[in-house]
Amino acid sequence: MDRRNQTSIYEFLLLGLSEWLEQQYLLLGLFLGMYLITVVGNLLIILAIGFHLHLHTPMYLFLANLSFSDIGFISTIIPKMLDNIGSGSKLVSYDGCLTQLYFFGLFANLDNFLLAVMALDHYVAISHPLHYAMNMNSQRCVLLVAGSWVVTTFHALVHTLLVTRLSFCGPNVIPHFFCDLVPLLKLACSSTYINDLVLILVAGTLLIGPFACILISYFYIIFAILRIDSPKGKQRAFSNCTSHLSVVSLFYSTAIGVYLCPPSSHSGQKNRVFSIMYTMVTPMLNPFIYSLRNRDIKEALGKLLRRKSL
Ligand SMILES: *[C@@H]1O[C@H](CO)[C@@H](O)[C@H](O)[C@H]1NC(C)=O
Repeated sequence: MDRRNQTSIYEFLLLGLSEWLEQQYLLLGLFLGMYLITVVGNLLIILAIGFHLHLHTPMYLFLANLSFSDIGFISTIIPKMLDNIGSGSKLVSYDGCLTQLYFFGLFANLDNFLLAVMALDHYVAISHPLHYAMNMNSQRCVLLVAGSWVVTTFHALVHTLLVTRLSFCGPNVIPHFFCDLVPLLKLACSSTYINDLVLILVAGTLLIGPFACILISYFYIIFAILRIDSPKGKQRAFSNCTSHLSVVSLFYSTAIGVYLCPPSSHSGQKNRVFSIMYTMVTPMLNPFIYSLRNRDIKEALGKLLRRKSL
C-alpha cells in the first residue's frame, strides 16, 4: 500500500472510560484522590528513608527507588486521564500518545526490575547473612539500580521508536484509557511484523527474566528459611520478606490479568478493571503494604511526621 495516499492521523481517541463518563465528577474525585494518595504515600516513604541514616541499607534504598518508580508510573496515566475526564474530551495527540507509551513502558518495567533486585537482595540476606555486607556493597547496589534504569530506558525507547515507523490512517479509536502498545499496534495500517517480533522476543525476555529471578530467589529463600533451626529465627527471616512478597503478588497477578488475557478481551470490562488495578492500585498500595508491615518504616514515618508537625 502506498503510504502517501493515506491521510495520516494526528490524534487518537481514548475510549476506555467513555461508558462511565456520566459519572464524571465521581471519577474525577476518585482518580484525583488515588493520585494524591499515591504521590504523597510514596514521597513519604522516600523521605522517611532519606532522612534516617540507619535505613540507608540496600533493602530500603531499593524500596525508595521503587517508590520513585511508582510515582512515575502513576503520573504517566492519571494526570492525562483527569484532563480528559475534566474537559470531556477523549483526544490525545500523536506525540502525547507516544510520550505516554514511552514512560509507561519505562516505569512499568522499572518496577518489574526493581522488584527482582529486591528479591535478589532478600536472597543474599537470608542465604548468605555473613557475607551480606560484602556481597551487597554500595557499589553493587548502584550498579543494580543503574543497570535497571539503562535496560528499561533502552527497552521503552526501542518500542517507541518502532511505533514511529508505522503509519496510522484508519480508525483512531483506542479502546483503552491510556496509550498502551498492543491496542496501538492494532490501529496501524502498515505492517507491524517487526514490532510484533520485538514485542515477543525482547519484551518476552525482559518481562519474564525478572519474574523468573524472583521465583528462583524465593525458591532458595524458602530452602534457607527451612534450614534455620529456631522457630523465632525462622519467623524473623520470613517476616522480612512478607512485604515484598505482597507487593510482588499484587504486581504480577494484575499484570498477568492484563497481558495474558486473550487479546480478544482486550477491550472488555474485566480487562479494564485489571488495567486499573495494575496501573493505579498497585502503586497506591505499595507504601501502605510497607508502612503497615515493616516496623522500621513505621517508626521512621512516625518520626518524620512528628518533625513536620512541630
Ligand atoms: C536508589 O538506589 C541507589 C543505590 O542503592 C541509591 O544510591 C539511591 O539513593 C536510591 N534512590 C532513591 C530515590 O532513594
